[in-house]
Amino acid sequence: MQNRLRSADIRNRKGIPFATVTAYDVSFCEAIEAAGIDVLLVGDSLGNVILGFDSTIHVTLDDMARHGAAVARATVRSHVIIDMPFMSYEVSNEEAIRNAGVLVRAGASSVKLEGAAHVRRIAAIVGAGIPVVAHIGVVPQTAALHDGFRRRANRGELLADARAVAEAGAFAVVLEMVDRDIAAEITREIAIPTIGIGSGPRCDAQVLVLNDLLGLSRNPPPFAHPYADLRTAATNALQSYADDVRSGRFERDPLTAR
Ligand code: KIV
Repeated sequence: MQNRLRSADIRNRKGIPFATVTAYDVSFCEAIEAAGIDVLLVGDSLGNVILGFDSTIHVTLDDMARHGAAVARATVRSHVIIDMPFMSYEVSNEEAIRNAGVLVRAGASSVKLEGAAHVRRIAAIVGAGIPVVAHIGVVPQTAALHDGFRRRANRGELLADARAVAEAGAFAVVLEMVDRDIAAEITREIAIPTIGIGSGPRCDAQVLVLNDLLGLSRNPPPFAHPYADLRTAATNALQSYADDVRSGRFERDPLTAR
């Protein structure tokens, strides 16, 4: 834990662009750190991309702790943000602090929660000594209950939300699907780094869902930037393996081959 980037290190990157990516398991973490990406988000997008749900509301605190712990075990220096899942922070400050503590025990360097409506929870968790990343704009846990997943462009509301979460003590804020000019204005306006997703290039940092970035997602969002096509590569590899086995070409174990 000692050598990991701390929230203060991330906070000090204001104005210095940095890449963030989601991570859920051990297998990709080595590649992520080798690529020089040192801010990892164990997002509750876990529910969609790994667990096969159609919404993040099905993700539990146990799910986040289990996958967060795997990512923490697989990394050395990265700052590991773990998402607080739906209904783990809404009920009371006490419950939010207790649940944030579960994630820190699992390996979180900080926790993230959605919505400027929860500024009191942000302040309470920060007050308990746990660094918090806020998340405004489209907030997937409750988006389907309200305005859906359309881009947010209410300038006054977004600026007020950004100021409120920064004042509550968040050390960074994710801006999801915020109009790019408003995201740029928020980035100029507030003192903490903005981490954009689908919010244009003028945020301090960017975050992408790993499976979208690597071309593994079946239905990536329109703002996804695929940098590879691992879905096709994996299908081709599996096809070659199956063909080799079926046709008898499969390489024998050299120790047992006669
Ligand atoms: O859960 C997640 O992956 C996220 C990103 C979309 C920012 O919150």
